[in-house]
Amino acid sequence: MKRQKIAAGNWKMHKTFEEGQGLAQEIRTMAATEVMPEAKLLIFPPYIHLQAIAKQLAGSGIGVGAQNINQNEQGAFTGEVSASMLKSIDIHYTLVGHSERRQYYNETNASCAAKIVTSIKHNIVPVYCIGETLAEREANAHFSIVEEQLSAMKGLSNEDAAKCILAYEPVWAIGTGVTASADQANEMHIHIRKCVANMFNDEIASGISILYGGSVKPDNAKSLFAMSDIDGALIGGAALASRDFIDIAKSF
Ligand code: PGA
Repeated sequence: MKRQKIAAGNWKMHKTFEEGQGLAQEIRTMAATEVMPEAKLLIFPPYIHLQAIAKQLAGSGIGVGAQNINQNEQGAFTGEVSASMLKSIDIHYTLVGHSERRQYYNETNASCAAKIVTSIKHNIVPVYCIGETLAEREANAHFSIVEEQLSAMKGLSNEDAAKCILAYEPVWAIGTGVTASADQANEMHIHIRKCVANMFNDEIASGISILYGGSVKPDNAKSLFAMSDIDGALIGGAALASRDFIDIAKSF
């Protein structure tokens, strides 16, 4: 099965409203004029941008997603945003369980499991982020930690599991300038695919897109994308500059 190639930009907490509009416009123009036959582009701006950018990019083929979603349908959850709110402004993707959410906002595999279920229920594609810390890698626990994180998908039906996108982001490589080597990343992606096969089946494992994230830049994207099991990237810092983001997307 041919897997979808994806370049996804996570803007994190960057860009004022006007700056966000500008960046989205640049991305739209470059994507339309430069040849990127294989890559699907996704961008994950902060909430304040979502409605405007979803309108701005309508018809461009570029997907727009939230950086987080609440697992509850509605209610007294101050500061949170629900799946139906996102759907009401045409948002079809969300990140789930980014390491910064796990680290600073106490997100757990259990809360991620609930967020994945809620997203799928509302036809929002979850991009589920997993990855070990430096201490976990040094303790040689990286494979088991990632397997444990993947267990958040366990309750899904095969059909729903096939709707997910995965992003392997070793925490030690995020925003540090240190990238996992292409071999290190691919080794983990192969492990992730095996775990998915064990939880579901081979067909789902071979069809699911697994992105790599952590200091992806135009100059290392090609070697990462050349690997057998790396289907794209979740890009932080380099996604804040349209030229870099597009150059990464052109590296498939
Ligand atoms: P980075 O961030 O590309 O700046 O390392 C990646 C991410 O956290 O998604």
